[in-house]
Amino acid sequence: MSTKKKPAVTKKVESPVVAPKKSRRKYEPPQLLKGMKDILPEEQSYRMAILRKLEDIAISYGYQRIDTPILEQASLFQRSIGEHTDVVEKEMYNFEDKSGDQVALRPEFTASIARAYIEHGMQNRTQPVKLYTVGPLFRHDRPQAGRYRQFWQLDLEVIGEGQPVIDAELISIGYFLFKDLGLDAMVNINSIGDEQCRPQYIQHLQEYFRARRKNLCDNCKLRLSKNTLRLLDCKEPACQEIAQDAPQIIDHLCAPCRDHFVKVLELLDETQIPYTLNPKIVRGLDYYSRTAWEFFPVMQGEEQMQSQAALAGGGRYDALLQKLGATQPVPASGFAAGIERLILAMKAKNIMLPSLYVPDVYLAQLGASAQKRSLRLMEQLRQAGFKVWGNLVKESLSAQLKVANKLGVSFTLILGQKELLDGTIIVRDMDSNSQEIVDIKKIEKELAKRLEKAPVSSIPKTVGAYDAIAANIDETAIIPEVVTPEIVQPGQKTLPIVE
Ligand code: HAM
Repeated sequence: MSTKKKPAVTKKVESPVVAPKKSRRKYEPPQLLKGMKDILPEEQSYRMAILRKLEDIAISYGYQRIDTPILEQASLFQRSIGEHTDVVEKEMYNFEDKSGDQVALRPEFTASIARAYIEHGMQNRTQPVKLYTVGPLFRHDRPQAGRYRQFWQLDLEVIGEGQPVIDAELISIGYFLFKDLGLDAMVNINSIGDEQCRPQYIQHLQEYFRARRKNLCDNCKLRLSKNTLRLLDCKEPACQEIAQDAPQIIDHLCAPCRDHFVKVLELLDETQIPYTLNPKIVRGLDYYSRTAWEFFPVMQGEEQMQSQAALAGGGRYDALLQKLGATQPVPASGFAAGIERLILAMKAKNIMLPSLYVPDVYLAQLGASAQKRSLRLMEQLRQAGFKVWGNLVKESLSAQLKVANKLGVSFTLILGQKELLDGTIIVRDMDSNSQEIVDIKKIEKELAKRLEKAPVSSIPKTVGAYDAIAANIDETAIIPEVVTPEIVQPGQKTLPIVE
């Protein structure tokens, strides 16, 4: 027997387990940022209709698409839009990036397009250069109906030509684009002169408003020296009342500016585009000269309540390109429309668009072999130009037919074990619930015949990205309501009411 002492075993003393403290704070799921908007599938048909019309009209007038980056040097906008404008001073999303550069999310397109024109030597192309674009913009504004912090614009610019006919063409494009979308819009137009005549006018304006300073809102008191023209479009009732009798720029235009403005109006008369002369259209961006305009929807009764916000705005900006570095004068003009505002106006007028998501045909299958064959068949039909949807996961036929019904398809194809062996497929008419067995090899022809239309692929495509789906928008389904807008007839110029 060993007398060796066993080594002493040291027992581990377990420290008492302390349960982690339960956080009392409830998990807050991530949320949409204030002023931002998700664009859900239901709204896509409106966007698609607008984008398609824009492409059609822009290309038919000789405009070419340009896309500029969302992020630019902050100084680009400070220099073009103006340091003391609301957009730059209060609304621009600017920050220092990881390289220490001051950058900004673009609050508009004009400055970026002017930069691109200079940077890519577009003055060497045939003038004028006509460009259009569409995309998201960012302004940290107070959100409200039709005003978002991220919103979309469609934008057209003509760079390299100073003739009044360019302004008239742009206004005409806006007018007919909105008309094609089922909207009646009234253009409010003004001239804000140029660097020759505007400074004297601003002096008159300052004298007028200084004499009434104590009754102005705080914002307007600041605007007096920094942003005088904007005193004219303040929304405060007291300021509006004062602005009512303010001197009007029309009476202070130099001869070339007056001549330009008269020609624009004559051209609008000629094209029978109704307009309202509105001395309060001064625009919120500093780069404008001469013609300035905004489009407002023409609506009646309750709709009128929603029609306060401008659908679009634009004007001439003859001095901007030189300010950004062009070595010679490059006159330019353009306008932009808010896509969310167009959609709101379309909805206010009960303009209905069919969903983009109605397939031509639904494919139902039964059994593992049919499921396998269905995948190939779907691709074959898609290549033939049919929009074919099918849920390859659902098992029961009734569940699949329910989905087909919900989608609103006219026909469902049913492929089961028996049909697979026979080389056939069942075509079910969803309206009458009648079914017919057809040779699977002839299915494309059968479908084309039944759908009484050519497959999507044979519809002539528009140039651009939205073609195939956009081509399926049934334009006859745009049902503009009959409205009798109180419009000013061409040649009859009245002072404005719309603000
Ligand atoms: P803007 O007047 O600032 O002009 O904007 C044009 C249009 O964009 C407005 O009439 C409105 O429909 C829409 N919009 C503006 N801000 C918002 C917002 N926060 N939410 C929703 N929609 C909005 C410009 O941006 C100039 N760059 C237009 C231009 C082009 N001028 C010459 N060329």
